[in-house]
Amino acid sequence: MEDSKASINWFPGHMTRTLRVMEKEMKNVDALVIMLDARIPYSSMNPEIERVAGTKPRVYVLNKRDLADEKITREWIDYFRKNMNGALAVDSKKGSNVKRVLRNINRELEEVLKRREARGISNLKNRVMITGIPNVGKSTFINALAGKNRVKSEDRPGVTRGKQWISLDEFDLLDMPGVLWPKFENNTVASNLAFIGSIRDEILDTETLAMSLLGEMKKIYPGLLIERYKLDEEDLLLDDYDLLCRIARKRGMLMSGGVENTERCAAMLLDEFRSSRIGRISLERPSDHVSTL
Ligand code: G4P
Repeated sequence: MEDSKASINWFPGHMTRTLRVMEKEMKNVDALVIMLDARIPYSSMNPEIERVAGTKPRVYVLNKRDLADEKITREWIDYFRKNMNGALAVDSKKGSNVKRVLRNINRELEEVLKRREARGISNLKNRVMITGIPNVGKSTFINALAGKNRVKSEDRPGVTRGKQWISLDEFDLLDMPGVLWPKFENNTVASNLAFIGSIRDEILDTETLAMSLLGEMKKIYPGLLIERYKLDEEDLLLDDYDLLCRIARKRGMLMSGGVENTERCAAMLLDEFRSSRIGRISLERPSDHVSTL
């Protein structure tokens, strides 16, 4: 299992190109929106984006807040703000809090705006780059901001899409394709990205991934597992594979001869986690991480 986890390392050529374009475009933008997944704000923070962003003003948008644990998301927002960055939790699908991101950007750009006013060019639009890992919800966020279907939500992980400018009343947004980074610092980061679906499922072993997820869930949300899959407390003492079999049996996922269909069960578990049917789950807390900002 360790071997299979360690092999999650995926960085197609077009992502290298995206990073180069980002680096080049940095001088053309005033600020960045760095989109993170509220369930894994640390693991979804791309160190390469941080590197090319340098000291540019930014707002961290913790998207998919509807899928994450509310209390932990609040802890993350405090963490980002304590580190002097704008931060907001957003549900782009419902559009909640999306417009507040623009106000936050203006706050981050206070100095820039004052300087423009002094030079009599305060009518210039702010240019903002929207970045993040694949599948984090950039297109959905921009659609919610732009108020109409300006961007097609077709950016599946691993599918190339070019940069594009989107013009709003007060802002010009530069939408960049989703980008990962060449080497994940540890297996937890790699697994977390895979759990939320930012790494293409086809290159992963679904059963291994589902077992890792069960291992995590047993530690941090045992109650949700028991409730969703009608387990007994003792079931959580099983090893990850036996627990997968137990859940398959509970769900009647059996093959001929009564053997548990662990592959189907694994796919179901990942699907239920990703759509928050198991519950609202945050896999990371700020207290687990030393300051990275
Ligand atoms: P991307 O451009 O960063 O690649 O992401 P995109 O907007 O395409 O969103 C990826 C998936 O995440 C989509 O789901 C989208 O609906 C979902 N999503 C985006 N923002 C949110 C959010 O705040 N909350 C929730 N719950 N989901 C969000 P999909 O299943 O791939 O497509 P669809 O069936 O929803 O259209």
